[in-house]
Amino acid sequence: MNMTSSLVDYWEECAEEWDRIQGDSGDRLRRLAIYPWLLSKLRVSNDGSLLDVGCGNGSFSRVAARLGARTTAIDHSRALLELAAHRSSELDIHYILRSCEQLPEAVSHKYSAAVCNFTLQDVWDPRRVVEGIGKVLAPGGDLAIVIESEESLRSTSVHTYRRETVIPAMMADAAGHPAQRIYWYEGHYTYTFVRPEGFYLQLLEETRFEVTAVSTLSQIMWDAEPALAIDGKIIGLHARKR
Ligand SMILES: C[S@@+](CC[C@H](N)C(=O)[O-])C[C@H]1O[C@@H](n2cnc3c(N)ncnc32)[C@H](O)[C@@H]1O
Repeated sequence: MNMTSSLVDYWEECAEEWDRIQGDSGDRLRRLAIYPWLLSKLRVSNDGSLLDVGCGNGSFSRVAARLGARTTAIDHSRALLELAAHRSSELDIHYILRSCEQLPEAVSHKYSAAVCNFTLQDVWDPRRVVEGIGKVLAPGGDLAIVIESEESLRSTSVHTYRRETVIPAMMADAAGHPAQRIYWYEGHYTYTFVRPEGFYLQLLEETRFEVTAVSTLSQIMWDAEPALAIDGKIIGLHARKR
């Protein structure tokens, strides 16, 4: 099995549904919990530039671009990038169709900030991605990583979507962490790798980032009315390029 192309295929399959869920500026979880946290950490403004790694339908890129940041968004799904571009026609966002495992070659200049919002948990080789981001960030630049906690990924009860059991060896990442299959809705699914938070912290240290914050963000159920917050399920890591 070709790991990279199959992971792309899953996102191509999910693209329209993902775009419907995220809309212009993100689902409720992003709007109420994650984007405020990202904006508090990333110093997004018209003085800065942002690289949105694994941008999906571009919801955070639009938030950043509207605040004046020069924004580049990279994703390996053509379908998602087309949907993102369609939603951003009035904004000056530069979209790149490429795997983020191909940073730094994929971009041509240095950024003051980068974000991986629920991207690294989908990536087969996160070390390569974080090393690549380190090369395209200016010294002192900010990196924010948002992941689901390992506990949350192993839990079946807190999600509005269905999960299958962990897929063994065949779908393990470069470091041997297994993947889980997640259904977004009938017949459409993707994979996400189940890694302990400590893995990401160690990776940041080893790739010359200084971790400055480890935050627990609420999980807000997508469809619950009123929004249902469950603590301890989403982790935000903020680090600075040494
Ligand atoms: C869970 S979605 C998150 C999207 C967006 N960051 C958000 O929070 O709405 C994961 C995204 O990462 C992208 N992705 C996964 N692996 C990637 C890779 N190797 N290179 C580029 N994009 C990737 C997927 O196509 C998808 O858009």
